[in-house]
Amino acid sequence: MDFKKMTVYQIYPRSFMDANGDGFGDLQGIISKLDYIEKLGTDCIWLTPIYISPQRDNGYDVADYCSIDPRYGTMADFDELSAQCKKRGIAIMLDMVFNHTSADHKWFQQALAGDEKYRDYYIFKPSREGGEPPTNWVSKFGGNAWGKVGDEHYLHLFDVSQPDLNWENPALRREIYDIMGFWLAKGIRGFRFDVVNLISKPEVYEDDHIGDGRRFYTDGSRVHEYLKELNKETFGKYECITVGEMSSTSIENCIKYSNPAENELSMTFSFHHLKVDYKDGDKWSNIPFDFAELKRLLHTWQAEMAKGDGWNATFWCNHDQPRAVSRFGCDRKYHYQSATMLATVIHLMRGTPYVYQGEEIGMTNAYFDKLSDYMDVESINYIEILRAEGKGDNEILAVLAAKSRDNARTPMQWDNTVSAGFSTSQPWLSVAKNYESINAASALENRNSIFYYYRELINLRKTLDIIAYGSYRPMWQEHSGVLAYMREYGDERLLVICNFYTDEQTVDISEFKDFDNLIMNYDELQIDGDMLKLRGYEAVAMWV
Ligand code: GLC
Repeated sequence: MDFKKMTVYQIYPRSFMDANGDGFGDLQGIISKLDYIEKLGTDCIWLTPIYISPQRDNGYDVADYCSIDPRYGTMADFDELSAQCKKRGIAIMLDMVFNHTSADHKWFQQALAGDEKYRDYYIFKPSREGGEPPTNWVSKFGGNAWGKVGDEHYLHLFDVSQPDLNWENPALRREIYDIMGFWLAKGIRGFRFDVVNLISKPEVYEDDHIGDGRRFYTDGSRVHEYLKELNKETFGKYECITVGEMSSTSIENCIKYSNPAENELSMTFSFHHLKVDYKDGDKWSNIPFDFAELKRLLHTWQAEMAKGDGWNATFWCNHDQPRAVSRFGCDRKYHYQSATMLATVIHLMRGTPYVYQGEEIGMTNAYFDKLSDYMDVESINYIEILRAEGKGDNEILAVLAAKSRDNARTPMQWDNTVSAGFSTSQPWLSVAKNYESINAASALENRNSIFYYYRELINLRKTLDIIAYGSYRPMWQEHSGVLAYMREYGDERLLVICNFYTDEQTVDISEFKDFDNLIMNYDELQIDGDMLKLRGYEAVAMWV
């Protein structure tokens, strides 16, 4: 299994397909759609957490790592899914959430009951005077990062119901290795590690006077040691594909996490390129994306990771991000062109591309018209925080329409029937209103749909070594509307040129005398003398 030739398809099970009609996606639903995934050609499916959980953070609050949440089905359903995938040559990647557990996990419950062994699985600190939290750190979901119990506090970098684990404790690490052993014994050979660069906490807990505390625990001092140990004790004994989700990380650290000589992970997710529409770092703001910065970040990560022999996961979408076609493209007038242009950018780069369910048919943001449509814990927390800042409901609705994680979580649009064919009853989250025109059934019928363009990109990576292994060089770096790069391998050269705007852009291609198109999203190129003229969201990859 060569992960450099692979494309991963991410499934958010609760929104993918509901087989038992309770409004909630499930494992049998996934099984029923494996033919679809096989048709797309992705070699691996990443399932976001399906373990027993109170679902405050939709499963990222795990209460039992070795059981399937009944909402999704049973272990027998999981084994069936696993067997069905194996038959089709599709690997499964499970989501391992080891920075924190749910407060419902028996370890935390035993810790609260005063059991010293389990108290040391978590991070409890005495409260400050007046019952104040030990530090001023801010939780990723808003508010202070400490939860109060009696005269002490426990750390929760995410929701108050997600206490952070204490990786300093070897007994806790051993528990984690046993959990990994359980899934490895079931033949699982793919793992995504949730916010894994936050597991190493500082020795001293102090206030952060210049930030929200993240500089004290991001890429912490023992994180590489922990990952090496995790690798050695668990998945390193098998041929596995692993990816770490890295919050606010650096290139230097990502090289270390993913350079094969370090024996840590196969690859990393980093998010800097998805913060180019945050005003001064604030996600809950509404500004157009900064294209120059987006380009600079993508080019720099591509070039630097290659230099250090690291490996990127390349992606625009996941269950935490607004839909790329709504965010960086034009989801109405240039729906096909902008969706395929964005796909071209990341699928022909150096790295392993990830496709998030629905991206391959150009699913858009949710465009909810009521605050009460939002279900995500982060959005719900922020509605209150933004209100407290004095913002009105319409302003908040506009920010959520652009930024809420629920944009990615609306049910998969399978067809134009009620509930988009996702469920026979009311789905847990409303379906986006455009399901009658944007859905998998109509995409499959049309050979010129976004779906078939993705399928072609996925297949090209499998068949062309230059895409999997070639070098990367930014082109026309100063151009204000075009992102372009050259891939080189042996004596082959592949030039990728993408227009990020509706306006026409031109690039001077006089240095390339002969070229031959590999893939493009318009029928033919417009060439005027030395100039290539790119129409709205036009993308082309050509041999030069
Ligand atoms: C990751 C997940 C996100 C979750 C958080 C806490 O960022 O992708 O969905 O809420 O970790 O586990």
